[in-house]
Amino acid sequence: MSIVALIKGRRGASGFGYASTAEEVTAGLDLRGKNILITGVNSGLGQENARVLAARGARILGCARTHDKALEAGRHCGAQFVPLACELSEPASVRACVAEVQRQGLRLDGIICNAGIMALPERKLQHGQELQFLTNHIGHFLLVTGLLPQLTEHARVVVLSSSAHNAAPKAGIQFDDLSLERSYTPWRAYGQSKLANLLFARALARRFAGSARTANAVHPGVIATNLMRHMNPIARASMGLAEVIALKTIPQGAATQCYVAAHPATAAISGEFFADCNVARSSAAGRDLALAERLWMVTEEITSKL
Ligand SMILES: NC(=O)c1ccc[n+]([C@@H]2O[C@H](COP(=O)([O-])OP(=O)(O)OC[C@H]3O[C@@H](n4cnc5c(N)ncnc54)[C@H](OP(=O)(O)O)[C@@H]3O)[C@@H](O)[C@H]2O)c1
Repeated sequence: MSIVALIKGRRGASGFGYASTAEEVTAGLDLRGKNILITGVNSGLGQENARVLAARGARILGCARTHDKALEAGRHCGAQFVPLACELSEPASVRACVAEVQRQGLRLDGIICNAGIMALPERKLQHGQELQFLTNHIGHFLLVTGLLPQLTEHARVVVLSSSAHNAAPKAGIQFDDLSLERSYTPWRAYGQSKLANLLFARALARRFAGSARTANAVHPGVIATNLMRHMNPIARASMGLAEVIALKTIPQGAATQCYVAAHPATAAISGEFFADCNVARSSAAGRDLALAERLWMVTEEITSKL
């Protein structure tokens, strides 16, 4: 058997692994009565995540940049689907989304912070923030902290990080140059935003300690989705080889977040980083709780001015 086949066939302590799909990890679960909010519901992993959790009975609150996009995405998510506009790079839109959930009086059993952008070739600023950091981290920070009062006692927050958190700057989070004016590269910026996602989950888990709520981060694998849209043709072409070696399908890529959001085995696990449906080891920066706390405080300061 080849090494590739061995890696793909490997299962961890959870009984699931690299090749498990979202349907497989949720087989037999009855999620009727559960409300789960998912960002980025109109594409890639978020779309599959929503489809599968809805098929298990959950009511999906599906967020997309616009209400129309969310509505369209909901076509595969059953009659209970609630479409929500949430443009993560616009604080006013995120706050309006929070207000809409509150207005509808919906309690949340889960939030999956799934939306994201990757590796913008040029440094882009919005509201004075680097756009990947703003979208992937700050937008989700605003959303989740705004929705804390809506969470049920056993609510689970799942934040999509990535193994690319290893590409963050040496300092981890570049607090003295957060928008990477001095040293922008597409992967450093994406890596910093994904490290921030991971640290946010760790810091949130600390705040949930002593309760039945959980917060975890996830690396879904490497999957060919619209996320690659900003990669240049050479980088894309090299994905051809990677595809043979490591790419997952979308159903496989959506498995880990479904597992952490819904499986009974993860109900009491918090503050962890998951990959291939098992607890995994992150970078040292990704385990640095002091860094996580500093990021929380800095993000609070930023959002107070947005
Ligand atoms: N695919 C991978 O290999 C991989 C690996 C590691 C981690 N991840 C993470 O997995 C998550 C899902 O990625 P994916 O592969 O499914 O990518 P995708 O197909 O590109 O989906 C990303 C979703 O995020 C939404 N989004 C982007 N910017 C937004 C904004 N400003 N406001 C609101 N929504 C926004 C997109 O909406 P539009 O369609 O309107 O742009 C889309 O629905 C991301 O967080 C990504 O970092 C993916």
